[in-house]
Amino acid sequence: MRLQKEIMSDIIIRKAVEEDVSAIAKIEKASIPQPWSEAAFADALTQENAVTLVAEADGEIAGFITGVFLFDNADIYSVATAEQHRKKGVGAMLLKSFFYTLPTEVEVVWLEVRESNSAAISLYEKSGFERVGLRKNFYEQPRENAVLYNKQLSK
Ligand SMILES: CC(C)(COP(=O)(O)OP(=O)(O)OC[C@H]1O[C@@H](n2cnc3c(N)ncnc32)[C@H](O)[C@@H]1OP(=O)(O)O)[C@@H](O)C(=O)NCCC(=O)NCCS
Repeated sequence: MRLQKEIMSDIIIRKAVEEDVSAIAKIEKASIPQPWSEAAFADALTQENAVTLVAEADGEIAGFITGVFLFDNADIYSVATAEQHRKKGVGAMLLKSFFYTLPTEVEVVWLEVRESNSAAISLYEKSGFERVGLRKNFYEQPRENAVLYNKQLSK
């Protein structure tokens, strides 16, 4: 794990702690149709192969990213920025910090995204992800295809 703390202007990226869970779940609930519960985020913090990072702005949680790694692969489960902090580079910074936090043996990072989520797709493509597949009707409520992306990490 190489991330200590990344600082960009007034935004700090750091590993999430238990006290962050309710803010993380609140952002997730406001951002994603089928959100994880607070308990699921709390559980992720206890897993050795999971990474959850938060972006902090003036003491407030502005966004988060959570994912897992196993051997040479990692998966991003969720990334979201609180509405009032969007379009300021928080999402891009969270992704970059996530890559640096992964163990050095991780070579590929995977994620799925709703086909209609143009903001996230643009963020992922800008961050070096490549479209590698489509999962038909992967999501519910509403039913929608998932686009599968991956990014090769250059070590
Ligand atoms: C997707 C999301 C995380 C982006 O977060 P953000 O902090 O606003 O992103 P950034 O400011 O770092 O933007 C980086 C790039 O993403 C893209 N982007 C971000 N918001 C965008 C929007 N509304 N429309 C189009 N492109 C957008 C742009 O390419 C942007 O680069 P630019 O600023 O040079 O144009 C945020 O919109 C969000 O939380 N959405 C709801 C949750 C979600 O959909 N998560 C992904 C689930 S798979």
